[in-house]
Amino acid sequence: LARTAAAPDLAGRHVVISAGGTREPLDPVRFLGNRSSGKQGYALARTAAARGARVTLVSANTALPDPAGVDVVRAGTAVELREAVLRAAADADAVVMAAAVADFRPAEYATGKIKKQEGRDPEPIALVRNPDILAEVAAGRARPGQVVVGFAAETDDVLANGRAKLKRKGCDLLVVNEVGERKTFGSEENEAVVLGADGTETPVPYGPKEALAEKVWDLVVARLE
Ligand code: CTP
Ligand code: CA
Repeated sequence: LARTAAAPDLAGRHVVISAGGTREPLDPVRFLGNRSSGKQGYALARTAAARGARVTLVSANTALPDPAGVDVVRAGTAVELREAVLRAAADADAVVMAAAVADFRPAEYATGKIKKQEGRDPEPIALVRNPDILAEVAAGRARPGQVVVGFAAETDDVLANGRAKLKRKGCDLLVVNEVGERKTFGSEENEAVVLGADGTETPVPYGPKEALAEKVWDLVVARLE
């Protein structure tokens, strides 16, 4: 169905989007992090708002302006992101996990700055697993019919890895990016295949992150009752 300005297809819907990348602190001045800019998540937020949704954007360590008409919630670590996403997901029609969540965090946090010791090699950094937020949201859908979407960047066997990941996470849609030469973090453009739990495969050609965002919402709308 074509959407029009008069009948935006996400009107009356609440969507939750995570964006950016978590930072896992080692001490007050250092962290383990990743290169996610948050641009794809912000494009999802802008396009959902334009399509009439109430949008909660859980933003982790981004340097982007707040999109107009969007409720922005800040989260630093994976544990904080989980709290914010689960809270917002309670009454959400769709949850899209575009954030890059650190798989591990330092097992210990030093309350004072870690100093190097004269003539001694550094201690290895012990890590522990972070919670899998996407799997948790998908397993405990806060309302029946809630549509859950994940993102994955893969370097090898993109489709096979994507299929396996979709199943493992239990989500409805998985947007799989092939990470390579021109498809790098921070870029304005993206190319992807959207895998559906129903077996569908939707290729999205190389183009602006807004275009990929619109395609994701098309697929979400088709799955909302
Ligand atoms: N994700 C999450 N919580 C985590 C890790 C990932 O919610 N602790 C979400 C991401 O936001 C993304 C999806 O899961 O939407 C896939 O992330 P990815 O890193 O590709 O999946 P992993 O299961 O961590 O697999 P890998 O070992 O390949 O990193
Ligand atoms: Ca991961």
